[in-house]
Amino acid sequence: MVAVRVLLYIVDEDKVHAGTTDCNACPAKVPVLLYDTSKDQVAKGLALMDKLLDKDAKKGALQSADAKEARERVTVVDSLTALRDVGMTVEAVSENLRLKQAIFSELAATLPPSAILATNTSSISVTKIAASTLQPGQSAASEEGKATASRVVGLHFFNPVPVMKLVELIPGLQTSSETLQTARSFALACGKEVTMSKDVPGFVSNALLMPFINEAIMCLEKGIATRDDIDKTLKLGMNHPMGPLQLADFIGLDTCLAIQQTLYQGTADSKYRPSVLLERMVDAQWLGKKNGKGFYDYP
Ligand code: CAA
Repeated sequence: MVAVRVLLYIVDEDKVHAGTTDCNACPAKVPVLLYDTSKDQVAKGLALMDKLLDKDAKKGALQSADAKEARERVTVVDSLTALRDVGMTVEAVSENLRLKQAIFSELAATLPPSAILATNTSSISVTKIAASTLQPGQSAASEEGKATASRVVGLHFFNPVPVMKLVELIPGLQTSSETLQTARSFALACGKEVTMSKDVPGFVSNALLMPFINEAIMCLEKGIATRDDIDKTLKLGMNHPMGPLQLADFIGLDTCLAIQQTLYQGTADSKYRPSVLLERMVDAQWLGKKNGKGFYDYP
């Protein structure tokens, strides 16, 4: 079996206060269970958390005691069954429909019937993911089937999550208004701003961002400008914090390609066709910052 990364943040819904906006490093102050199939990824995540909390404490943005408490609210668990009492999950695995379907089927069978099941998908249909919560023999029209699928919602965070202010909220066809409201309250309690998008391929964010990144890659592919000049044009000419090629590396070229394939297959619109250069770079396993080689090198 292919080793996959499964990252779930679990919060106790009772501790989420609707509309909380007193934003410091951890305004929601909810206990979190963290589950990942890769021990390495867990270790990396915890090390980053320590580094960021430490930095905030050193520069006075956070009291040392608050940083310590924030860290202590996160507990690593080693199985999905450990999640049986939680109020909410946020799944953040890679952009792979089958993988997400398998996880949501298991979560629906494990979690309490009131728990919210959020997905951090960047492009895949929330409606499709919600349908995978149906248990064998359960009809989508049955009361139980409808109730379970109604608890699934898209909750799309942006990288780097501690810095980026936005969460995109996406209801599937089955999502209830209560689920949507709780998910919105959770995002606000995390100190984020919320926008809503219909459940279309890529939602608002990636239906706009990915064609932009793809055009930049095509510019490079056609030799219209160099890598550095493409990125410099957008940074200095349009005040973007990163050029599109650097941003593609930062997101991950495999993730960019997966999102573009979802957009292209979901719309059959040629404007979303991934560039051949992007496909070849992923074929070469040049995945961007995460593995050291993309449009730039990361020694
Ligand atoms: N994790 C946590 N914090 C980070 C971080 C990370 N990975 N990277 C940078 N930061 C923090 C730094 O610690 C610093 O914080 P302080 O001001 O408190 O010291 C702050 O961000 C600024 O960092 P830097 O000065 O080192 O660098 P910068 O000013 O160039 O900012 C950046 C870095 C925030 C990443 C900026 O370049 C940027 O905004 N880039 C664009 C990011 C973007 O577009 N993200 C969306 C990607 S799309 C997506 O995520 C969703 C999808 O579906 C594909």
